Amino acid sequence: MSYNLLKGKKGIIFGALDENSIAWKTAERVHEEGGTFVLTNAPVAMRMGQINQLAEKTGSQIIPADATSVEDLENLVEKSMEILGGKIDFVLHSIGMSINVRKGNHYTNQNYDWTQKGTDVSANSFHKVMQTLYQKDAMNEWGSIVALTYMAAQRVFPDYNDMADNKALLESIARSFGYFFGRDKKVRVNTISQSPTPTTAGSGVKGFDGFISYAEKMSPLGNATALDCANYTITMFSDLTRKVTLQNLFHDGGFSNMGVSDAVMETFTRE
Ligand code: NAI
Repeated sequence: MSYNLLKGKKGIIFGALDENSIAWKTAERVHEEGGTFVLTNAPVAMRMGQINQLAEKTGSQIIPADATSVEDLENLVEKSMEILGGKIDFVLHSIGMSINVRKGNHYTNQNYDWTQKGTDVSANSFHKVMQTLYQKDAMNEWGSIVALTYMAAQRVFPDYNDMADNKALLESIARSFGYFFGRDKKVRVNTISQSPTPTTAGSGVKGFDGFISYAEKMSPLGNATALDCANYTITMFSDLTRKVTLQNLFHDGGFSNMGVSDAVMETFTRE
């Protein structure tokens, strides 16, 4: 269903890799709601070529940018304003990567070069994106910036590894930069803390199948899907949420406030 919530709004969407990506679903929903945008991803991700289908479907242009490179981001922001014909109303940061996770290094046995790279990609990139937008005065007043995060920033999920620390930093950057963006430009900055979701990044986490079914059983409403997340993100880009800022918004079917559920207890209860 479409509500025309984003009619006339212009944005940049980071992180659509394939049709499972949360950013992919968000791009489709933004398009349905009347928004226009530039799609971007790391040059290496472009080689897989799938993003072209999304661009065609949504009438969007693609600008490659490594989100750790300020030079790439400056080029992205400048070109996006040219293509879209003005300043930006919404930005989705949907980027995450840990080499320690990918290579199976345990949390207690990190390769710190990899740790640093993961932090740069998953958290510092958000600061770089916002600093570029801020310094170029590229956001319209009442614009909205969203990054995606996970509850391992607050609670222990052992196999989430160094991504837990990256997400904690990401959420902190959202608050810290959000203050200046709000004060100076009337732009809001929030993170959405999403349920485990079967995507390339999600499935890379060790024991992901167990993880996702546990969360499903714990959550009174069940896990939020990528499409659910896209729908929530759209409300955050719309004019209906203008005074929401500096928040970490749980979008997880209720998981974050649960202690235990009947379904999980059943597994442990003997007759
Ligand atoms: P995904 O694998 O589809 O998306 C991750 C994206 O990050 C990819 O498009 C990848 O190309 C991009 N990326 C990696 N390095 C980059 C760089 N240097 N520059 C620019 N882009 C780069 O997976 P998903 O799940 O859609 O991830 C999106 C966001 O959602 C991430 O922040 C992830 O941590 C977060 N999230 C995912 C959950 C899950 O269970 N899948 C749960 C909660 C949050």
